[in-house]
Amino acid sequence: MKSSVYQCSIMELPKVHNRAGNITAIENQLHAPFDIKRVYYLYDVPGGEDRGGHGHRTLQQFIVAVSGAFDVKLDDGINKKIVHLDRPYIGLHVMPGIWRELLNFSSGAICLVLASDTYSDQDYIRDKDEFLRFKSENR
Ligand code: TYD
Repeated sequence: MKSSVYQCSIMELPKVHNRAGNITAIENQLHAPFDIKRVYYLYDVPGGEDRGGHGHRTLQQFIVAVSGAFDVKLDDGINKKIVHLDRPYIGLHVMPGIWRELLNFSSGAICLVLASDTYSDQDYIRDKDEFLRFKSENR
């Protein structure tokens, strides 16, 4: 997968504000730049724990800190980038073929993930050396 961390972009989502609070909607193809086939969220992450630590062969994801904050560390095998997410109206589009780690979760943080496909263990690359080989074969 010829993807780079520079193709993983931050996107601002619409926010409808009134005195009773805010609403942010994420629509298929419009805000998330792919067909959303799965939604999941990470929560109750104990202090100091990291998540992720894998790459995907084909999966695209759109990550939002709907509550609290955390960092997303992206690595395409050559370049690295760290994105701090701490606003429920900001999303990070993660391309396939990117090694990602989620770290520095604040207390009570909720990480919402919209994904372009249903869960498939075969799509994961969980070994960093295998990921680097996969990237060098697909450059
Ligand atoms: P994993 O994606 O490895 O977690 P993280 O990258 O956040 O550390 O998933 C952890 C476990 O949860 C794994 O055993 C598979 C399961 N899982 C599902 O069953 N469905 C899903 O959609 C996801 C994302 C994970």
